[in-house]
Amino acid sequence: MNTVRPSDFIASISYDIRLAPYDIQGSIAHAKMLAKCRIIPRREAQRIIRGLTAIQRDLARGKSLPIDEDVHYAVERELIRRVGSVGGKLHTARSRNDQIALDLRLYLRERIQSIQRELTRLERAIITFAERHFGTIMPGFTHLQHAQPLLLSHHLLAYAWMLQRDKTRLSDCARRMDELPLGSAALAGTSFPIDRAAVARDLRFSRLAENSVDAVSDRDFLVEFVSDGALIMMHLSRLAEEMVLWSSPEFLFIELGAEFTSGSSIMPQKRNPDVAEVLRAETGRVYGNLINLLVILKGLPLSYNRDLQEDKPALFDTVDTLQACLEVTAPMLLSLRVNAERMRRLCDRGYLSATELADYLTETGVPFREAHGIVKRIVAYCREHGLPLERLSLPELRRFHPRFDSGALAVLSPERVVERKRSPGGTASFRVREQIRHLKRLLQ
Ligand code: ARG
Repeated sequence: MNTVRPSDFIASISYDIRLAPYDIQGSIAHAKMLAKCRIIPRREAQRIIRGLTAIQRDLARGKSLPIDEDVHYAVERELIRRVGSVGGKLHTARSRNDQIALDLRLYLRERIQSIQRELTRLERAIITFAERHFGTIMPGFTHLQHAQPLLLSHHLLAYAWMLQRDKTRLSDCARRMDELPLGSAALAGTSFPIDRAAVARDLRFSRLAENSVDAVSDRDFLVEFVSDGALIMMHLSRLAEEMVLWSSPEFLFIELGAEFTSGSSIMPQKRNPDVAEVLRAETGRVYGNLINLLVILKGLPLSYNRDLQEDKPALFDTVDTLQACLEVTAPMLLSLRVNAERMRRLCDRGYLSATELADYLTETGVPFREAHGIVKRIVAYCREHGLPLERLSLPELRRFHPRFDSGALAVLSPERVVERKRSPGGTASFRVREQIRHLKRLLQ
């Protein structure tokens, strides 16, 4: 029987190895500072820095580090192998506890930027889609029941604004975590005369963490990032769900590009929306990652505990999932074939202009609540006679209220209904154009 060795059990190298470039970047800044503050001789610092730079270069070329407990030990061991025992001076005035808090920040700050770039790319794809299908009218839904006609562009652009907020949330997260933890050492700070401000400048942090215990204990910035990620996934999964729904034969609004569907092993006719479905499901794992982190942190006594090491699988999985999901969504959206004719036809069926008719009556001075009741009766009448609203005659309409005139019938076409929604943020085409212009400005 195989038994798990305790040393393997606590090892994190299998996943934290991806922090190596950041670990080395932080170490180089630390070594420079140690020399500047005369904590170690300049010549020794130079040897250390040359060694670290060489390791960095080899890693970039695909060489791997020796196996060790974690990335910090692996880099240090490799450094000592290359430059000799002087390499052991690098860890002066430092602990793995402030080191990992630094590595995570250096790593995440880059990942946030790249996720923000993907968000921007997806927003651009949405705008392209909105421009390509400008003028297509669809039934808008509430409760998944036909509600009022909308421009398809308007509907899709809703997602762009959600993603835009997601992007600013990530910027907030980046701003809050923008403080240097290094110099906190294990938990109490250090007796060496270090210069934290110099390291902060070197590594482009705008502030120093002001409490060493806080700096090595908390991972709130990871929770914040993963929760921002959970919101992004929530938005993507709602979009994915609409792709699934809209491509079903009941809706028939869209057809997904062939490469975003796959067949069935038994039913030869099938083209299933698998990409959108997987997108929807990936969301669950990111939510899981958020709960995972929160539960790891809950009730941990200060300061550092090894439990914190287990933050990384949740973080890395979130980063990878977000990156992949965002990358696949933009081309999927642009692959859509839109059945504009069917969307338009459905707008004639579900009494989508009923609110407009009530509004029309309201404009003549009838209180809206009364107009609502009158139109409700008109709709019931139409349902009974199998008539769409716009096929009512004026005399029929006037039987319900004398203030109806010929203008009432003219507002009932979905095109007119859409164009009358001129309030800022509404679906009238000039408002949607306005919206696209604004978004484009924000994306510049
Ligand atoms: N691999 C550890 C982590 O990710 C580094 C810190 C270990 N510190 C310690 N005192 N055991 O958190």
